[in-house]
Amino acid sequence: MGYTALCANHPCTFIVGANSFSKQGQMSIYCVRYFLHAISKPLLASITSIKSESCKHKTFSDLSTRPLLSYNDGKWKKTPPGDVKAMVWVLTRRKILDLITWNSKKMGTNLNHIGVLTSGGDAPGMNAAIRAVVRACTHYGIKVSGIQEGYQGLIDGNMDEMDARSVAHIINRGGTILQSARCLQFREKKGREKAHDNLKANDIDALIIIGGDGSFTGANLFSQEFDIPVVGIPGTIDNDIYGTDFTLGYDTALNTVVEAIDKIRDTATSHNRLFFIECMGRDAGFIALNAGIAGGATEILIPEDNKTLDDVVNKLEYSRSAKKTSNIVLVAEGDQLGDTFKLAEETQKKLPDHDIRVSVLGHIQRGGNPTCADRVLGSRLGVAAVEQLLHGHSGIMVGLRNDTVTTETLHDAITKKPGINRNLMHVADIVSL
Ligand code: F6P
Repeated sequence: MGYTALCANHPCTFIVGANSFSKQGQMSIYCVRYFLHAISKPLLASITSIKSESCKHKTFSDLSTRPLLSYNDGKWKKTPPGDVKAMVWVLTRRKILDLITWNSKKMGTNLNHIGVLTSGGDAPGMNAAIRAVVRACTHYGIKVSGIQEGYQGLIDGNMDEMDARSVAHIINRGGTILQSARCLQFREKKGREKAHDNLKANDIDALIIIGGDGSFTGANLFSQEFDIPVVGIPGTIDNDIYGTDFTLGYDTALNTVVEAIDKIRDTATSHNRLFFIECMGRDAGFIALNAGIAGGATEILIPEDNKTLDDVVNKLEYSRSAKKTSNIVLVAEGDQLGDTFKLAEETQKKLPDHDIRVSVLGHIQRGGNPTCADRVLGSRLGVAAVEQLLHGHSGIMVGLRNDTVTTETLHDAITKKPGINRNLMHVADIVSL
């Protein structure tokens, strides 16, 4: 039985959806139990009755009248109509959609029109997220506009209404159809005021920002200054956002880097050479650490670690004594040892008989068709962002932890740093011998 559970966030109200119903609703009741066991205990305690409805010939007001089952001390029993504090409705999917729309108005969110933009460095998977936002808005009956070139488009009033068809055939495309920018004007109060005027002029009452920590800093400020509901979706290849295991574009960039290392490995082995390869990661070593392990790097240099030139030289000397025929040192651009060309020069001085080359991978890491993982991540987070706004939430980022969509305050997403996995550094040391 196809089954969806949705908490509509109406006080003390839970809506559970089922695709089909048995005559007495028994199958659905089974699903309700399953659902209730999955939600937290305090919520469970607040539920006094359950109602099953196919709703075919009912109006919404009928739903508050006939409780079916109640849950108390771990037991279910039939309950007569009475003092009902909370209800669980078992409804068809279609009815849930009607209720969600109804609820969003009833809850005081009064959401009619959401704006979506991409900001900062583009990342594969942003299009999948835009597509999901637009289709979730269509699904819930809300207007949606795409804002061009990030915050710059807000300031310039460069935005257009979108529908399910305007995002056709983009899930497989890298970059962002909305285009992106790092907008200096938005850092000024005057710029943000202009952006706010344009939002009002276009009747947009909430924003979804797809970007990295710089974009979220602007979003947080804007939301507080003008009381505009804002939800962020983490999009950056660097994976350096607190509150999510993965950011959009990270998985694709990883695969791009590993593919590049594999190619460089072919020529490095043919010539018995040492390559310094620089990958992106301004402040974080997630790309370097993971791609370095996958690409068989002899040494990996990341900002979160403090390896010295001597450490690098010692490792390379050991490697030569262990008869390795090629060596790759993968350097995250933000590593403390600094400029990769300079590092190669310094190494050459200490290891004069090594034939050294440098390869900076650059912006190829930001492009390309998103991987399956990035497409699915974009789709999940896009839908979640719209649902969070519908539930009246703001000032948050949606993310993925342990394969579950979660939320984090924008404040924490901006101010806290995601830790690098030290165990991966340990593994990298061992497997590079
Ligand atoms: O988006 C993150 C990132 O790709 C960093 O890894 C890199 O340092 C930076 O963006 C490059 O930015 P730009 O494309 O603006 O030069």
